[in-house]
Amino acid sequence: MNPRPSILVARAIFPEVIASLREHFEVDTNDDDVALTPEQLAQRLQGKVGVLTTGSERVDAALLAACPGLRVAANIAVGFNNFDVPAMTAAGVLGTNTPDVLTETTADFGFALIMATARRLTESEHFLRAGKWNKWALDMFAGADVHGSTLGILGMGRIGQAIARRGAHGFGMKVIYHNRSRLDAAIEADLRASYVSKDQLLQQADHLILVLPYSAESHHAIGAAEIARMKPTATLVNIARGGIVDDAALAAALRERRIAAAGLDVFEGEPKVHPDLLTVPNVVLTPHIASATLATRRAMAQLAADNVIAYLTQGQALTPLNPEVIRA
Ligand code: DGY
Repeated sequence: MNPRPSILVARAIFPEVIASLREHFEVDTNDDDVALTPEQLAQRLQGKVGVLTTGSERVDAALLAACPGLRVAANIAVGFNNFDVPAMTAAGVLGTNTPDVLTETTADFGFALIMATARRLTESEHFLRAGKWNKWALDMFAGADVHGSTLGILGMGRIGQAIARRGAHGFGMKVIYHNRSRLDAAIEADLRASYVSKDQLLQQADHLILVLPYSAESHHAIGAAEIARMKPTATLVNIARGGIVDDAALAAALRERRIAAAGLDVFEGEPKVHPDLLTVPNVVLTPHIASATLATRRAMAQLAADNVIAYLTQGQALTPLNPEVIRA
């Protein structure tokens, strides 16, 4: 009898998802959940045909060259900037991600961060916890209204559209967006969202949220020059990826009140955070948790596992990034 194929789950995930994988494969796990270095990852992948990754593991040409037996890498994330997809395709390795299952949860969090940023939620909580609250005042932690304001969305994929829906239909906001490609008129009408140039977006938004994928083109899409185009009363929220915002430039702008506030769930070089962001009061900081509800994180992990099972047992995949590998 042929031995069962071996796979690696590179980070700790839910036991029931591991159990579903063990029905088909020998499964090596990383129970300590310490992120593996590229060398450790390559070493752990020797003799294995599949891997479940998160954003902390890179699947690039160097890893692929070191792991010639690898056939599939399933990212437990919708974003896949940790995958070099052309290199994977050239090596005949299937990549998959986890779209759809996290859309609404991530949009909820985007809205939570817009609200927390505009209404100075964490800044005022820190003030209270520090025992500084000794009188009520009319202008105490006065922030900006969310309802009825202009919501700007940079990147209008599934998550951007779910945020637009919340803004327009739930909060009566005027929604404007910029994206590489414009949506169909019927979708725009349904979302009540208007397409504008990036410059108009920066100038007109009261609350600007970033929901675009990270790539060489989107690196520092928001830097000092873009921040300078924004209203001094505006807020900026990033739930997309670190590196889309120039964090040093943003920290300087926040300190000098060139914009009112920011909410950040993702950071350049995370889990490190630019030290200047830790010292400015007008920023809400969260540790990359936009999709983090138990139900959604479980669904993401199961979808990644189901992709590996489908590909290695039936030559199919549910959410492939390079389907040409399957057809080859
Ligand atoms: C995603 O799914 O891309 C989230 O950012 C988690 O990495």
